[in-house]
Amino acid sequence: MHYLACFFLVYFAVGPLPHASFTCVRAQNTIVRVAENAETVAINPLLYGQFIEHLGRCVDGGIYEENSPLSNAQGFRTDVLELVKGLDVPLLRFPGGTVTKIYHWEYGIGPKEERPQRPNLIWGGNINYHFGTAEFIAYCRAVGAEPFLVVNMATGTPEEASNWVEYCNGTGDTYYANLRRSHGYPEPFNVRYWGIGNEESAEADAGRHYRVDDYNQSTWQFTKLMKLQDPTIKLTMVGDTRDPEWNREVLEELHPVADYLAVHFYAVPSDTTYSALLNSVYQYYDFLDTLRGQLAELPETGGLSRWYRFDGRPAPLQLAVDEWGIWNMDSPKGRGTYALEYPYDWRHALATAAFLHMFYANADIIGLATWAQTVNILAPIMTSKQAAWKQTVYTPLAKYREHMLDRHLPLALEGVPTLTDGRPALDISATISEDGQRAVVAVINLSLEDAHTPEFALPGMRLERRVVYSASDLLAANTAERDVVQETTDAGGGPQVAASIGFYFFTRE
Ligand code: AHR
Repeated sequence: MHYLACFFLVYFAVGPLPHASFTCVRAQNTIVRVAENAETVAINPLLYGQFIEHLGRCVDGGIYEENSPLSNAQGFRTDVLELVKGLDVPLLRFPGGTVTKIYHWEYGIGPKEERPQRPNLIWGGNINYHFGTAEFIAYCRAVGAEPFLVVNMATGTPEEASNWVEYCNGTGDTYYANLRRSHGYPEPFNVRYWGIGNEESAEADAGRHYRVDDYNQSTWQFTKLMKLQDPTIKLTMVGDTRDPEWNREVLEELHPVADYLAVHFYAVPSDTTYSALLNSVYQYYDFLDTLRGQLAELPETGGLSRWYRFDGRPAPLQLAVDEWGIWNMDSPKGRGTYALEYPYDWRHALATAAFLHMFYANADIIGLATWAQTVNILAPIMTSKQAAWKQTVYTPLAKYREHMLDRHLPLALEGVPTLTDGRPALDISATISEDGQRAVVAVINLSLEDAHTPEFALPGMRLERRVVYSASDLLAANTAERDVVQETTDAGGGPQVAASIGFYFFTRE
C-alpha cells in the first residue's frame, strides 16, 4: 500500500496521532550485512557511566538517606544500591554538574556532625555535605565504579582543586594526605578521572561566565597544580555542545594536556511528538562529525617541554559525553526541583537506545560517557520514602551494558523501511567479541505500529537466539507498582514487534 493511503487509513480510523508515527511495511525485509572493508573499533566500557549531583533528590533522598529504614549503616539506600548495581556502572561522576560552581570539597570531609550545612545556591535547598568525598568513594567501591570528580572553577581556586587531588591521591607525608589518613583512610582513593569545570560557557549559570580565552588560561593553572600532585590523573576540559568555535579554541590551546573534551548531549525535544524526540537525539550525529574533523587535526599525543615536570597526554584526545539523557521539557508531569523528576515512557527508552547506537558508531572518538543523572533527576531510577523502581530508560541502559560486546562492527543495510517523517524505521548496530567468536546485533524498531523482519547475511556466524524488549503500554511510565517493560526470548528469524529493542546473539560456526 502506498504510504499516503496508509496514513489516511490510520488517520480516519483513529484520529491524529500526536504521540505516534507509523510506517508502511515494504514488501522486502531488511538485509543486514557487514560493511565492505569494515574495521572494528573498540568500545570503551566507560561509555556506560553514570552521574550523580547535589540536585534535588538525586543524592539526598535518592542515593543517600540517613535514618531511613531502607538505608544501611553508611546511609546508602539499599534498594537504590541494588538497582544501581543492576546498571553495572564502570564510572561515576560527582558532585556536578552546575552545582560544582558553589561546591567546596573541604566541607564534605571528616566527622559528619562537624560538616557545615550550606545553601545550594544553584538548585535550591541546602547541602549538608554528609555525602562528601569519602562517602562518594565508598559508593563507587560498592557498585564497582571508577570515581570521576569535577572541580569548582567558578568560586573555587586552582589551589583548592590541587588540594583535593592531594587529599584523594596523596601518598607522601603532606598535610592533605595526612588529613585523609586522620579521617580513617590510610590508603589513597586513587581517583584517576577529573573534570576541570562544567559548562563554563553557560551564560545564565551562577558562578563565573568564562570567555574561551579566559577558560583556557585558567585551565592551564588548574592543570599544572593538579598534575603536579599526581601526574597520572586524566583530565576532562569543558567543551560546548552549541559552539564549535569554543571547542576549536579549547582544543587548539589545551590539547597537549587534555585527555578528554566534555560535551553534553541532552535530547531536548522541540514539542511533544515522537518525531521531535527522535530528532533531538539524531541531531548529534552532525555535531559529532564536526568534532571528528577537529580531533583529527590534533597530534596523537601531547608534547610538553620538560619545564612542565609532567608529561603531556599519552594517547589521542577523545570526547567525554559526561552528561547525556533526555529533557522532557513539555512534560506537564515533571516534579521535584526545577521539575526535573520526569516520567519516561517507552518511547524514551527507544530514544535512549538510539543514543547508544550513536555512541557505538563514534566509539573511536568517544572515550567515556555518563548518563545524567542516576536517581530521581532525569533518571532511570526513581524513589519514594518506601520504594525504588526502574523507569523505562533503565532497560536500554542495563541491557546494552549486559548484552553488547567489545568492538563495534560497521554494517551495510538494505531495504530499511522508513517512518512517515522519512527517518529509517530500524536503527541497527552490531558488536563483536575481541576474539571474533561472538557477535550481538541490536535492532531498534522505531516504528510504533509495524513489526519488521531483519535478515542477517553474516557469513560464518550462526544466529543462536534473540531477546526482545517491548512495552505493554507505549505511553505509560513505570511506577512503584507497575512495570510496562516486557522481555521475550526466541530463536529469532521472525518479525520483530513494533516499538521494540531486539538483541540478536550469534556465534561463529
Ligand atoms: O543534569 C542537570 C544539569 O544539566 C547539570 O547540572 C548541568 O551540567 C546541565 O546543564
